[in-house]
Amino acid sequence: MTDLVNAEHVNKSFSGVIALQDVQFNLKPGEVHALLGENGAGKSTLMKIISGVYTKDSGDIHINGKKLFHDLTPQSAQAMGIGIIHQELNLCPHLTVAENIFLNREFTTTGVLNAAKQNQEAKKYLKTLNLDIDPAVPVRKLPVSKQQMVEICKTLSMNANIIIMDEPTSALSEKEIEDLFKIIAMLKNEGKGVIYISHRLEELSRIVDRVTILRDGKYITTMNFAKTNLPEIISYMVGRALTEKFPHVEVERGKKVLEVKNLSSPHGAGVKNVSFDLYRGEILAFAGLMGAGRTETVRAISGADKMSAGEILLDGKPVKIHAPCDAIRFGLFCAPEDRKRDGLCVKMTLTENITLPSLDIVSRLGVIFRNMEAKKARAMVDNLKIKTPSVDQYVRNLSGGNQQKVVVGKWLMRDAKVVIFDEPTRGIDVASKIEIYNIMNELKRNGIGVMFVSSELPEILGMADRILVMCNGRVTAELKAGDTNQEEILKYATQY
Ligand SMILES: Nc1ncnc2c1ncn2[C@@H]1O[C@H](COP(=O)(O)OP(=O)(O)OP(=O)(O)O)[C@@H](O)[C@H]1O
Ligand SMILES: [Mg+2]
Repeated sequence: MTDLVNAEHVNKSFSGVIALQDVQFNLKPGEVHALLGENGAGKSTLMKIISGVYTKDSGDIHINGKKLFHDLTPQSAQAMGIGIIHQELNLCPHLTVAENIFLNREFTTTGVLNAAKQNQEAKKYLKTLNLDIDPAVPVRKLPVSKQQMVEICKTLSMNANIIIMDEPTSALSEKEIEDLFKIIAMLKNEGKGVIYISHRLEELSRIVDRVTILRDGKYITTMNFAKTNLPEIISYMVGRALTEKFPHVEVERGKKVLEVKNLSSPHGAGVKNVSFDLYRGEILAFAGLMGAGRTETVRAISGADKMSAGEILLDGKPVKIHAPCDAIRFGLFCAPEDRKRDGLCVKMTLTENITLPSLDIVSRLGVIFRNMEAKKARAMVDNLKIKTPSVDQYVRNLSGGNQQKVVVGKWLMRDAKVVIFDEPTRGIDVASKIEIYNIMNELKRNGIGVMFVSSELPEILGMADRILVMCNGRVTAELKAGDTNQEEILKYATQY
């Protein structure tokens, strides 16, 4: 059986930074092949070479048994049946769902766009993914999870036989993941090949046939999934065994720092009458299903959305938060869920991103001290082990997981009372997750109130002191992390 993809001796560097060094990878028809490695290992770079986004420096690539004599372009890769679902969403926010799906392949009647027909076709593909989305809606109006599903739909509609999925499930709900896995099983049955990149290692056993592991841009090994196990995979990824998954620390709880009373917000699916307290030196987690109102709650508290009712008290004093700048002034910081849209300026450098909310610290009379700025950024890079050739690197060139560290890092420069993380470990590798948990612990030890939203229950149970469960915009339970379990949380998360 001819390999769908066979790549050998692939090398790629970016202005001196080696991203791939003598890497090999092959994909067989009818297999799901996981490509694993830590943040910055080179996974996305290899996939971008195979899909024509990047050109390689050297190496041999065969597609469907044919050697490529020229580097692919996105168009020629598509023509050869290669489809890629990108890690960082690649949709045009102002175009509709249908326009995005059929971008550059528009449905026309005698040269004129036939929007009705295009919407109808889009609907058909949306249906295969069980998606009830209006194809005429602009993509920017959809939540991240739905945008990710549209991106998946777009690739599937191209009828590719080599399908690359770069972190497809990072923003999806359980149900959407189920639907995606059904589609993957279907593609497999049709003899197509799927390359699957994910940091959610637990989900691999449900779909994966083989795994290939990269570390620091080098090929480590390829294994049959049935013949290995997660601890072995992790030790190949990280280069050492990882013992502690959730480094929980005990800290004596301090005074009440944040009090939220009867908060309501009309945004998203809505927040209704949410009240809770947060204490210094504690970690409070928000559990719930997608759409439960967790993100909307933290957005309202941090001034990203306007609340329609409710009161916020910081250290016992009522505060009015109309915009994020108010929250920042009061010492309440938020690392948002959608990092590319809300958390970063990707066209600015790492230094500029890290110091952007702290320009008052690195400037006088409107003049920025560039040396001081760079020094602060370098300290942050060391502290968080951000993988980058320099602090002057543009954030868009960092790997996904390292971008996330920048989102978190910029708040660590300031004196905080409350730090809120919305899905802080999305797209983050196993070892870096522990680094993010250590940051949360450090804040907790320093007497800061920490809140986080997460869709991963083991992480909630492992890191939180207290858990608020939300469902349909309301708080349905408050639980002590030590006294509860996944089943109980899920019961309250699905209580209508
Ligand atoms: N366009 C670019 N310019 C400069 N450096 C780049 C570019 N793209 C990737 N890199 C660098 O190449 C290395 C590999 O990055 P890549 O995005 O392939 O990692 P990854 O394995 O996909 O990581 P993650 O799990 O975080 O997504 C990183 O050090 C990254 O900073
Ligand atoms: Mg990547």
